[in-house]
Amino acid sequence: MYKIFFNLVFKRMDPERAHHLAFRWIRLAARVPVLRTFVAAALAPRHKELRTEAFGLRMHGPFGLAAGFDKNAVAVDGMSMLGFDHVEIGTVTGEAQPGNPRKRLFRLVKDRALINRMGFNNEGSLAVAARLATREPVFRTVVGVNIGKTKAVPEAEAVGDYVKSTERLAPYADYLVVNVSSPNTPGLRNLQATEALRPLLSAVREAADRIVANRHVPLLVKIAPDLADEDVDAVADLAVELGLDGIIATNTTIARDGIGLKSEPSLVKETGGLSGAPLKARSLEVLRRLYARVGDRITLVGVGGIENAEDAWQRILAGATLVQGYSAFVYEGPFWARAIHKGLAARLRTSPYATLADAVGADVRKTTV
Ligand SMILES: Cc1cc2nc3c(=O)[nH]c(=O)nc-3n(C[C@H](O)[C@H](O)[C@H](O)COP(=O)(O)O)c2cc1C
Repeated sequence: MYKIFFNLVFKRMDPERAHHLAFRWIRLAARVPVLRTFVAAALAPRHKELRTEAFGLRMHGPFGLAAGFDKNAVAVDGMSMLGFDHVEIGTVTGEAQPGNPRKRLFRLVKDRALINRMGFNNEGSLAVAARLATREPVFRTVVGVNIGKTKAVPEAEAVGDYVKSTERLAPYADYLVVNVSSPNTPGLRNLQATEALRPLLSAVREAADRIVANRHVPLLVKIAPDLADEDVDAVADLAVELGLDGIIATNTTIARDGIGLKSEPSLVKETGGLSGAPLKARSLEVLRRLYARVGDRITLVGVGGIENAEDAWQRILAGATLVQGYSAFVYEGPFWARAIHKGLAARLRTSPYATLADAVGADVRKTTV
């Protein structure tokens, strides 16, 4: 049904307009109590065996919505209603900013992929914090808050910008993510170098602890798939050294070559981050590498090219405690999160593992024993 609808309606629309339209429908549906209760009852994860815990937070299922879809935290209940068990909002920057000029989002339908150069369009940390502060949650969803650098802030002052966002947003974050991996803010990815990352993560940790005294706000870092293997290892080691709670692997890629893209060259050439199916192999590889390095010392979140339950299961076996997705939602539609949770429960039942936690990293442990 959704695929017919996608081909007839969404595919003919500008991708960003289609996003806003779908987003409006989700928000509207979530405002109607009977409708949202009905939809949530049908789509929310309710497989006991999928209950899991990540960085001290209890979840009904491991699959959540990746950052970038709900940048301003306006549809957390709507996304939760559709079966995403955690919702990562943002990226939120210290100051509000419009992002890059349009057109800045492209669909590579033949590749089941997207290219975006949105450039962190968002309402800024003050407005998003105010929204979260007054939010009356309908569903008990884990809300991650993903923060990034305001474009106008020079790289040398990046720490201050992240700290400002942390001070404003940490009180409302079930977990906090330092995003240093978007390709669409000039210089941002330089912050992944350990000399820059160490002071940044330390300052965000300190700010979160200072502002939120009554609980530990889990802190994660989100990395790019384009890091060289040694740099992945360096971030992993730094995360362990600093006592970080998690690493999210991965953001979108700037790579285009060697991944067999089938879409028209004019589309493939668009500047920005590529996401969806073509990212699958590299994201999985980075995840496996991270797990081999950090094992169970740090929680890993797998994202990038997840299309179905099998992909999500492969990420869990490769070391992910949680999995996330974005691009395939555009192609698969509103029943996608439910299908993933349902398929994961079926895989777990027929696997040799008693719990989801037992399956985490099992493939990597096998090859490293
Ligand atoms: C349109 C679009 C906007 C995105 N914006 C953000 C963002 O603001 N912050 C972020 O950390 N990741 C952002 N991402 C990256 C996703 O969170 C995710 O890491 C990436 O798309 C890989 O997952 P996928 O293949 O399931 O889409 C964005 C992705 C897309 C497609």
